[in-house]
Amino acid sequence: MKINNLGTPSALVDLDRLERNATRMADHTRQLGVRLRPHVKTHKCVEAARIQTRGHFGGITVSTLAEAKGFAEAGFRDIIYAVPIAPQKLTGALEIGLRIDRLAVLVDHMETITAIEGIAGAHATIFPVWLKIDCGLHRAGVDPETERAVALAKRLQNSIHIDFRGVLTHAGQSYDAVNRAEALAVAQEEVTVTLGFVDRLAKEEIGVPEVSIGSTPTISSAESLEGIDEVRPGNYAFFDVFQSAIGSCSLDDVAFSVLATVVSVHPEENRAVIDAGALALSKDPGPTHVDPGCGFGRIVAVEDQHPLPGLRLSSVSQEHGEISGPGTAALRPGTLLRILPNHSCLAAACFDSYKIVRDTEIIDQWRPFRGW
Ligand SMILES: Cc1ncc(COP(=O)(O)O)c(C=O)c1O
Repeated sequence: MKINNLGTPSALVDLDRLERNATRMADHTRQLGVRLRPHVKTHKCVEAARIQTRGHFGGITVSTLAEAKGFAEAGFRDIIYAVPIAPQKLTGALEIGLRIDRLAVLVDHMETITAIEGIAGAHATIFPVWLKIDCGLHRAGVDPETERAVALAKRLQNSIHIDFRGVLTHAGQSYDAVNRAEALAVAQEEVTVTLGFVDRLAKEEIGVPEVSIGSTPTISSAESLEGIDEVRPGNYAFFDVFQSAIGSCSLDDVAFSVLATVVSVHPEENRAVIDAGALALSKDPGPTHVDPGCGFGRIVAVEDQHPLPGLRLSSVSQEHGEISGPGTAALRPGTLLRILPNHSCLAAACFDSYKIVRDTEIIDQWRPFRGW
């Protein structure tokens, strides 16, 4: 079956691009001498994770317990749940972890450690735990400059109910970069801050078994990762308009797109409407710090993804996407368009299945794990 026979909106994954992105990252990280533990939240599906882990140790990173459960059942045996765990989710995490080699969790607060010790003690087991530190994103993670950070590490090291896995961080501030050179500077900061903390812990006689870092912009641009054990980029499997704008990839590397149909055309106003809105593309505003006129995704040709000039996806509401620009003169109701999303993780999460394509031929269908 060909793409142009699909109903719309449909989520398309270009298999050749996905394979190319995965191979490039697998080779790059091998050359840097680090283990690759890809984050699989971008696609949440087994087939893509198998491609991403080829040639590496097979560990993955997930962002929900639904993903952890699904991937564990599919045979992935070493998983990090990379959101600080809510105490209420510990029993669920433990149950999944007992069926595989390891489901490790993150903490950045003493009360969560107490809760983990309680659950592990009650089940006579040992919980694998990473200490999450903040290397500049200021989202989750303890500030490594504080005494609290040292106290958390000490408690993790000394707990009989905890298998202290090491120190973990994620430099999400790399998304503020405007180009690859700036992303590289953030990559260096991610390494320096984390290893600085490891040194500080060493002075307190706290040994850190392993160090795990990573985001797509920082690992794509990294030139040296000495002292780092593993990295966790994820978005690179699909990439998106944002990543291409900040220099992590080219627009031609984007492996995920949304097929949409023109449903309304207003030639006198240089305006048209497609049947893909926020529930197919998300409302992510995109890389406005690099390109204020980026709109809500890039409109490209259905056959080969080449960018179509004169068409801008200027707004999205629930089920409508509004296109403006002189290129709308060529559009008719029924015209098919392909949209590269600003943020592929959010757009992919809008769909229950992805059509897997090679050129314009549909060769498979993959289903992501949904829910939390
Ligand atoms: C803890 C953690 N690790 C890794 C990643 C993957 O980063 P990216 O989405 O830039 O590939 C994320 C993304 O949010 C994350 O939160």
